[in-house]
Amino acid sequence: MIDRGRWSSSLMFVLAATGSAIGLGNIWKFPYITGVYGGGAFVLVYLFCIALVGVPIFMAELYVGQTAQKSPILAFDHLHRKNSPWRFVGWLGVMSSFLVLCFYSVVGGWVFDFLFKSVTHAFVGKTDEEITGMFGVLISSPWMVLFWHAVFMIVTIVIVSVGLSKGIERVSRVLMPALLLILVSLFIWCIFLDGFSEALAFLFAPDFSKLSSKAILVAVGHSFFTLSLGMGTMITYGSYLNKSNDILKTSVLVSLLDTVVALVAGIVVFSVVFTFGHEPAAGPGLMFQTLPSLFAKMPTGNMVSIAFFLLVAFAALTSAISLLEVVIAYMVDSGMKDRKAATYQIGGMIFALGILAALSFNVLADFKIGRFTFFDLFDGVTTNIFLPLGGLLTSLFVAWMMGPKAIEFILKGRGGPLAKDSLFWTMAIIAPVCVAWVLFQGISDWIQG
Ligand code: PHE
Repeated sequence: MIDRGRWSSSLMFVLAATGSAIGLGNIWKFPYITGVYGGGAFVLVYLFCIALVGVPIFMAELYVGQTAQKSPILAFDHLHRKNSPWRFVGWLGVMSSFLVLCFYSVVGGWVFDFLFKSVTHAFVGKTDEEITGMFGVLISSPWMVLFWHAVFMIVTIVIVSVGLSKGIERVSRVLMPALLLILVSLFIWCIFLDGFSEALAFLFAPDFSKLSSKAILVAVGHSFFTLSLGMGTMITYGSYLNKSNDILKTSVLVSLLDTVVALVAGIVVFSVVFTFGHEPAAGPGLMFQTLPSLFAKMPTGNMVSIAFFLLVAFAALTSAISLLEVVIAYMVDSGMKDRKAATYQIGGMIFALGILAALSFNVLADFKIGRFTFFDLFDGVTTNIFLPLGGLLTSLFVAWMMGPKAIEFILKGRGGPLAKDSLFWTMAIIAPVCVAWVLFQGISDWIQG
């Protein structure tokens, strides 16, 4: 029997799972899509999606991991039967984690570069144009992006290679409280900015005339990504939990923490943006172009810039760790005894494939498959297809294949028959239908462009 490792406590699981959930999705993507899709009304839809789709699927994944005590592919076999067709869901998860890390690490590398720039005062005394131009300069220099992609992957690989308690636990124990501390400090700082109340109004006063059907689609899709669902992450992390862990409590807690962090990050970002009367709808460049140029205009800007990019770097790292762990857990469970060797090999492969994503903005910018660069392809296939499909199937599996015993296990007798029915129907019908709709729309939009 291989020693797979185990979380030292449920609290440790919560820290690690929150570390996985809180990532670039919260601090980079959430503010910019909220900006693009019009603010308050989008936020409200997003909150609904987290509650109605995110949390139930989170519970389903945790159930699979916790009861099977196995990594995704083997977990479905264990719960259903040997060579079960459901193991396809596990495969999908392992493949998605691999592919997501290929481009996640590239963006993580950009964050490292911006952190380095902040620490070395590269933004100080520069004009707006110079600062907003830096992002373009970075992504168009192949050696720079490759260098940072390598640094990001090496750090991730080293942490995962030393195992659960010495690696992931130790890092989460330090980085997660540090992340929360930085975020709270930034939040207190932004209360005193002129744009604070405008930021609150933008995020929390819904204007439904701005809501498009595309926005709803994006909100459902994002609720997956931000909670690390649909690719076996929570199955894997759940498999290191004691069977006595309370799924309901931990799922709600992690989802809540993730949501609060996204909202607070949004408040910080938009307070800065509105203080200088900038456009909230700047898109993906919001974090790498708009923010640094605004930080540079403030008296304490360089400190804030260091704190901010440190926050993003920590968040990205703890998410990347969980992505790599999904693949490594599978290797270890299927008999590869040497965790270190497995991590080096798989990590090396992800780095290699990630090179294609890193070069998508420079050397390979004109190399397209259909309309897509490698970066767009890795991102698009996973976010639009694999993740929703994985989450949808996991939810169906737990509701229809495991049935009442799963619902019982999750609720532990709380809430009576109404709670049982609502949870069952949410997992069996509501969440899957919402996700299936996103899946079809997402695929057709993505292909048509
Ligand atoms: N949830 C992470 C984020 O918000 C991304 C992620 C997805 C991490 C899936 C692990 C698994 O950035």
